[in-house]
Amino acid sequence: MDVSKVYQYAVKPVPSMPRALIGPGAAELAGAEAAGMGLKHVLFVTSGLRGTGIIDEMKSIFEKAGVAVSIYDKVESNPKDYNCMDAYKMYIDDKCDGFVSIGGGSSHDATKGARVVATHDGRNINEFEGWNKSDRPNRPPHIAINTTVGTGSETTAAYVITDTSSPKAPFKWVAVDFPSMATLAINDPALFTTLPPEYIAFTGFDTIAHASECYTSNLDHPLANPIALQAVKLASENLREAYANPKNYDAMMNMIWAEYTAAYAFMSGFLGIIHSLSHAVCAYYDIHHGLNNAIGIARVWEFNLPSSPRKFADLARAMGEDTTGLSNVQAADKAIDAAIRLARDVRIPENFSSVKPYPKSRIGTGWYSNRPKEIRSDEPEIEKLALHLLNDVCTPFNPRIVTMEDARQILRDCIYAPMGRNAHVTTHERVNGKREAAAAKATR
Ligand SMILES: [Fe+2]
Repeated sequence: MDVSKVYQYAVKPVPSMPRALIGPGAAELAGAEAAGMGLKHVLFVTSGLRGTGIIDEMKSIFEKAGVAVSIYDKVESNPKDYNCMDAYKMYIDDKCDGFVSIGGGSSHDATKGARVVATHDGRNINEFEGWNKSDRPNRPPHIAINTTVGTGSETTAAYVITDTSSPKAPFKWVAVDFPSMATLAINDPALFTTLPPEYIAFTGFDTIAHASECYTSNLDHPLANPIALQAVKLASENLREAYANPKNYDAMMNMIWAEYTAAYAFMSGFLGIIHSLSHAVCAYYDIHHGLNNAIGIARVWEFNLPSSPRKFADLARAMGEDTTGLSNVQAADKAIDAAIRLARDVRIPENFSSVKPYPKSRIGTGWYSNRPKEIRSDEPEIEKLALHLLNDVCTPFNPRIVTMEDARQILRDCIYAPMGRNAHVTTHERVNGKREAAAAKATR
């Protein structure tokens, strides 16, 4: 029986999650946990978290538990294929027996990549793009110590790597590979207090994108949906306070729960074209994943809204909007307004053309040194971004079918238009520098 001809995506995935320790003091248990797993020498995989003291502190915690530590601290934002291969090489050279990722999604994803490579005798990481491409189920143990409110990677089976070396490069690909889940996930709010506010804003919007995309996806199901809505509510209620004061314990702890639970929901319902768009822009410009999501979210919600006004009305209510007496269509519009207001409150740039290199950004460095320093895509570049978007693994789960012209228009709006409903730019307006016309349209 070919059910695919009757029901699209009939089989719903119900994911498992690794064991987790969540709450203040959880990170201090990590060394004893590693020793309890029988580990003798672990490899820390991290961006370095320089200026926070976290890596030195964690090294001391592991060594006190009798576990030696080597450190690979060169993970880049949007982790590159060479980050996975270099971490794998250090793991082999130093005769390690387990991995510890410390940081955000980039560190966890690079670690998952290095573990897959280690299990497959050093094969190139770019061979593992897609769904369950590994053919060996075992992985070295992995403790994922999370420090951002947006990734979910510490507890999911997914990881995302930027291919800089194959003929497809630049290409940011997704792997969903169930043996790649970490052995233990740790979220300790004590490690989040040094997060720069802009990172809290970016990663907070990553969480809202995770939760809202799976809630509206065509894979949604009754187990994941309430969790997704709860994550949208928690993040919407707490992001402003966490952004303004990262030492606000209640706000940060609620953001951590939003991040963690959204990850469960999106491993069920998967994602949509907010993430497809983000992966495309990351591949070409190497800017922050969460920032891309924050810029894309209102535009993609507006595009997707006709697919299910009821679901977007639910998102509006989860974001605290009063929808009393409104139809679903009227209420759904309020979700877009709420997303724009939240983005502006946490200083998200209006569009990609107003993104400036942000602190610690690697834009224009390393492999990307020959790329433009600012995003001002011409039409041939938009064509490449649109193709990347359409071919992304998340695109089939988007609730509305996306054409090439749809993708081009969403990208043009994200690059040039202000963040208002119906603030679309035409090629004519863009070419003639008439973005004011779009701005005026947005305020009418
Ligand atoms: Fe994400």
